[in-house]
Amino acid sequence: MIVLKAPEEIEIMRAANVIVAEVLAELRAAVRPGVTTADLDRIAEELTRKRGAVPAFKGYCVAGRVYPAALCASINDEVVHGIPSASRPLREGDIIGLDYGVIYRGYYGDSAITVPVGTVSAQAEELMRTTREALEAGIEAARPGRRLGDLSSAIQAHAESRNFSVVRDFVGHGIGKRLHEDPQVPNFGQADRGIRLREGMVLAIEPMLNAGGPEVELKEDGWTAVTSDGSLSAHFEHSVAIIEGGPYVLSCL
Ligand code: MF3
Ligand code: CO
Repeated sequence: MIVLKAPEEIEIMRAANVIVAEVLAELRAAVRPGVTTADLDRIAEELTRKRGAVPAFKGYCVAGRVYPAALCASINDEVVHGIPSASRPLREGDIIGLDYGVIYRGYYGDSAITVPVGTVSAQAEELMRTTREALEAGIEAARPGRRLGDLSSAIQAHAESRNFSVVRDFVGHGIGKRLHEDPQVPNFGQADRGIRLREGMVLAIEPMLNAGGPEVELKEDGWTAVTSDGSLSAHFEHSVAIIEGGPYVLSCL
């Protein structure tokens, strides 16, 4: 069931997502060689609590497993849900996906960026740029009257036009009083198919692109998804409200 949000609810979700955006900006500035993802996790949780919000992912339950940290930090071939660690300092040339969520006044905010650690390869730069552009292409289609497949296919078309592959095993989602609401928002699909987008829907749109094939597998920790072929992966996410006049990106500063 898709829960439509009233304008007042969308403004609360805007406030929740601004906190997420502030945290991600702070984390981006903290990323450099030698920093650990556990350091980043601590920064994120502290800033969140200072803003009167609560980290959304810590203690979140998926299929009977409890996520142990505030931040998801996914390095290089890690696609999503990398668990912060104090034992793996970032190195020059890494790329790191930072996926963050909060709960504020009863509503969720959710956004992700992928950033370089120092100078990275041309391929890594292109993968990050293309993933950001694919997200923008999806957002552009998030308008009342368009269909979900328009959004999904816009993301896929942009990714594949640059010879990157779209991860199938994880998708975006509706968001509101729960982190994951209907509908699922795939990053692949066909234009003119799927549900009709309506005013008051709020979607977390989150393309994950791989430099190699689309296949992913789960590491031993039960959370970290990695590319099966070891290729680089990038992830960007915005929470977007569908309102009259076009997409309202809630998670930008
Ligand atoms: N942005 C991710 C998502 O939408 C983060 C969830 S991590 C979890 O699914 F631990 F909370 F599951
Ligand atoms: Co999400």
